[in-house]
Amino acid sequence: MSNPLLVLVTGANQGLGYYATQILAKTGKYHVILGSRDLEKGKSAVKSLLEDSDISPSAIEPIQIDITSDESIKRAAADVLAKYGKLDILINNAGIAHHNASKKPRKQNWTHSTMSTSKGCSS
Ligand SMILES: NC(=O)c1ccc[n+]([C@@H]2O[C@H](COP(=O)([O-])OP(=O)(O)OC[C@H]3O[C@@H](n4cnc5c(N)ncnc54)[C@H](OP(=O)(O)O)[C@@H]3O)[C@@H](O)[C@H]2O)c1
Repeated sequence: MSNPLLVLVTGANQGLGYYATQILAKTGKYHVILGSRDLEKGKSAVKSLLEDSDISPSAIEPIQIDITSDESIKRAAADVLAKYGKLDILINNAGIAHHNASKKPRKQNWTHSTMSTSKGCSS
């Protein structure tokens, strides 16, 4: 596809983020930036995904992003902006589940686990 939508998935080196990346990349409609807090794990995940011949090597790339680090989020956002000038879709998959989440205000949990990524990518 000539103009794939640009997607960044956080926490995508394993689990749901990994499989979301796999499904999106297989469609050929997306270029998926696979976010991981450990870049080596991200590279390893990309390598593993590319063992599937249905996924084009140009459909996935790794990026380091730790959603608890403003510095990491800003650096990732700057890298994406410099390379592509945009981001079409952000999948805030990486999250931190609090053991006492039900006792905390929902907005606080949302801010802690999700908005930090959104704020970084929109600045
Ligand atoms: N699985 C479920 O049934 C379920 C249900 C409801 C909600 N969720 C939510 O869905 C999301 C993914 O769940 P999952 O089951 O796929 O979890 P998982 O298998 O534990 O994967 C979590 C991913 O997030 C990454 N991660 C953790 N902390 C991070 C940080 N500070 N910055 C960037 N990445 C970070 C992990 O990286 P490392 O490999 O480096 O640890 C890993 O790649 C989570 O937000 C979870 O709360 C899952």
